[in-house]
Amino acid sequence: MANSQKNNRNYPKNIGIIMDGNGRWANANKLKVTQGHEKGVGVVRDIVKECVAKNIESLTIYAFSSENWSRPKNEIKGIKKLIVNAIADQVPDLIEQDVMLNFFGDIDSFGYEIQEKTKNAERDTFQKNSKLRLNVALGYGGRKDIVNVCKELATNFKSGQITFDDIDENMISSASQVPDDNIDLIIRTGGDKRLSNFLLFQAAYAEIMFIDKLWPDFTRDDFTNCLNKFTKASRRFGKRV
Ligand code: IPE
Ligand code: IPE
Ligand code: MG
Repeated sequence: MANSQKNNRNYPKNIGIIMDGNGRWANANKLKVTQGHEKGVGVVRDIVKECVAKNIESLTIYAFSSENWSRPKNEIKGIKKLIVNAIADQVPDLIEQDVMLNFFGDIDSFGYEIQEKTKNAERDTFQKNSKLRLNVALGYGGRKDIVNVCKELATNFKSGQITFDDIDENMISSASQVPDDNIDLIIRTGGDKRLSNFLLFQAAYAEIMFIDKLWPDFTRDDFTNCLNKFTKASRRFGKRV
């Protein structure tokens, strides 16, 4: 791909980010949780710019997990509003930067307005030669995705569309909702060292970096440090090198 050739510093092609720490940031600053999420959206804007500047192919961000539905109703209401506002605010900028948006997860559970806005945003930012693909996980859970893949393949097997031997890693990747098959680097802010159900299948060989800073405090420089650290990793993929 054109982008990977330009990305000549051996930076990761596909990056995933678990943007954690908005709630703690809000608490520490005596603000409402929703204000923490709002500040977090601003950081996304910065990191997207940095990805474009560094010719990264795709950025997959964890905006809302399938488990986050168990949060207080008010927080969820605030997040929904933020999603709608962020789309309205940022789509023109994304078009300007040649960024293509893609939402995945259980979007239907967010209701009609968000279904429509996300679909329109995808349509409006669609382009064949995008500078960056920005994938947003909304109501996504890695295990749920794998269960759905199993159901789809079982249905196709039962109807005779596929045979037992057709099932391989590529078929599973294609049936998954996650747009990218392989994630090279996962960054989690907020200090916790876990994946919280993010990209379970696609992160099989990802470098994983846990950053203590809370997401609203994460900067373009912090991100660049992660990219530079990535270039120093010895990615052996099981081989003796
Ligand atoms: C991450 O920040 C954003 C979402 C899960 C929507 P949190 O809201 O989880 O922040 P902390 O972990 O409570 O600080
Ligand atoms: C992970 O953060 C999900 C997102 C960033 C959207 P959580 O705050 O939900 O994860 P846990 O509960 O600490 O594992
Ligand atoms: Mg959290």
